Amino acid sequence: MANVVVVGAQFGDEGKAKVTDLLAMNADMVVRYQGGANAGHTVVVGNETYKFHLIPSGIVYKGKQCILGPGMVIDPKAFLTEMQALLDRGLDDSNLKMSTAAHVTMPYHLMIDAAEEESRGDKKIGTTKRGIGPTYADKCARTGIRVEDLLNPAVLQEKLEWMVPRKNVLFERMYNLPQLDVKQILEEYLEYGKKIKKYVCDTSALIFEAVGDRKNILFEGAQGTLLDLDHGTYPYVTSSSPSAGGACVGAGIGPTIVDRVIGVSKAYMTRVGEGYFPTELFGEEGDRIREIGAEVGVTTGRPRRCGWFDAVLGRYAVRINGLDCLAITKMDVLDSFDEIQVCVEYRNKETGKVYKDLPSIGAMFAQMEPVYKTLKGWKQSTVECRKFSDLPDAAQKYLEFIEQELDAPIAIVSVGPKRDNTIIIEDPIHGPKRVLSKAVPA
Ligand code: GDP
Ligand code: IMO
Ligand code: MG
Repeated sequence: MANVVVVGAQFGDEGKAKVTDLLAMNADMVVRYQGGANAGHTVVVGNETYKFHLIPSGIVYKGKQCILGPGMVIDPKAFLTEMQALLDRGLDDSNLKMSTAAHVTMPYHLMIDAAEEESRGDKKIGTTKRGIGPTYADKCARTGIRVEDLLNPAVLQEKLEWMVPRKNVLFERMYNLPQLDVKQILEEYLEYGKKIKKYVCDTSALIFEAVGDRKNILFEGAQGTLLDLDHGTYPYVTSSSPSAGGACVGAGIGPTIVDRVIGVSKAYMTRVGEGYFPTELFGEEGDRIREIGAEVGVTTGRPRRCGWFDAVLGRYAVRINGLDCLAITKMDVLDSFDEIQVCVEYRNKETGKVYKDLPSIGAMFAQMEPVYKTLKGWKQSTVECRKFSDLPDAAQKYLEFIEQELDAPIAIVSVGPKRDNTIIIEDPIHGPKRVLSKAVPA
């Protein structure tokens, strides 16, 4: 029995779904605990490619319980569309459950997300425009609509009659957007309520029961550590808690339930949307990574910004998530490079001071430049490698270097999008617990 959290250790899109899918083979339950339709999780099974947004990737297996937890924000229209497309491809929804307490993304959230981005001009966050920020904002303001409300016409009507006129004032005076109609929204969302009713329950109780039955539970993180509302590169973050601690709050479990935390990182780095990215490459090398790695956003189709692996951010992710081990994905994308850089520290351009750890004041990011260590490329394909010893010498050295810099063991290396494009170095679930060494000096 082991309950495992899979988190993104970078800016999202690290290949969390591939790793979750691998581990789900031996799991009984897969739980999404935060985020919403902003996520884009790709799983390749044989010749089939699935792209999930709201639905846990465990749905590709028959008989695994899949849960949309209370910490998520759910756009019911997007959910029903995604589910229908999966049903059409022969997948089964009989083990899918959705929390009563998850918050609902309403049409006004989508409109506000787009309008706020527009009004920020060159200070925009580059959101996915899936209404994530405004839905979580209403949740925090205690004015949100929860999944359970879609099943209760009187409650939904009362909430909408209070909320919609307030949003209409904003639309008229701030955003120059058309007015919304309570009755129309009420009818549409009660209809969604009828369609999702069969999935809705107290998912925290289900998880607790599974824990009692010694089932294996996987918590599938969305987004990544550096996009975490509290611990990411604020304000260029999402509005939820993707880091490992978020799994407890977002799924409704105590921290004692979690046995292991696995951090997923690419062998390089990408980011979609705006915000700090010290190792970003603007020239030919960045384009090459983007092209070979097919680095295009799953949800928005935007090209991803690409750069070298950043060990400063990696160490930070180890700390924030208490990572037991790492899964390094997309090794194969670096196969043709003569040299590969790894950022080992930041240098303050003004003072010359070097930082091994993230500067504690976010605004200082703008003053930082990466200090690189250059490693030799391996210049041969890793796609067929299945054991660590199959990897070319320079690739082994590259991974060992990352391991040393982050002071965390690498358990999994991914060398392609398919399940079998994988090297298991040590058992990611039952391997030794990481012994935390002394913190890296700032
Ligand atoms: P997630 O959001 O973290 O689940 O990651 P995404 O699905 O957004 O992006 C990861 C992309 O990389 C997907 O297209 C995966 O199919 C692909 N991928 C995952 N692992 C590997 C790998 O080791 N090599 C290559 N070439 N592609 C990979
Ligand atoms: P997965 O789960 C990468 C980014 C957006 C934007 C910021 C805020 O596939 O890794 P939001 O719509 O959440 O308010 O946008 O966060 N972002 C992601 N980037 N992967 C994701 O999900 C992301 N979800 C949100 O691009 O910069
Ligand atoms: Mg993604």
